[in-house]
Amino acid sequence: MALAQVQGNRHRRMGEVCDVLWRFFKDQGVSWVGFYEKDDDADQMSLVCSRDKPACSPIELRGACGMCWEKKRPIIVNDVHNLGERYIACDPKDKSEIVLPMFNSDGSCYGVLDLDSFDRNAFYEHDLIELRRLMESTAISWPAPHIPALIY
Ligand code: SME
Repeated sequence: MALAQVQGNRHRRMGEVCDVLWRFFKDQGVSWVGFYEKDDDADQMSLVCSRDKPACSPIELRGACGMCWEKKRPIIVNDVHNLGERYIACDPKDKSEIVLPMFNSDGSCYGVLDLDSFDRNAFYEHDLIELRRLMESTAISWPAPHIPALIY
């Protein structure tokens, strides 16, 4: 199977994984789940898919998603206030967030998975490991060396 075909189906797989994550985590404190991709021709990221609400798109790179993309590192935000100007609020009720970088086969980062919660301290290192495993097993992200998360 051609690699282009695998990559071409990526958006469909992202939609399906969004559905699965939403189904399992909506009753466990998750308020929103979605994927953003970096635009090729602009310093911004655009929403690919999300559950269960739409969200701001495009977003500037100054926020948690942009920081994750730029640094190619997962980010756990225990309290969105800790990020100050570096947080972009799509839903004012959101209190914490987890963001994972998504990698191409050449190791470049093309986008992020983002989960939000109305509770503070909703996400743990353990969630990163499980989510990373899911992203790799569904071929949404190529495997990449483990880099410890930035915690805010
Ligand atoms: N909070 C993100 C923006 C995306 S929303 O959470 C859906 C950020 O700071 O980049």
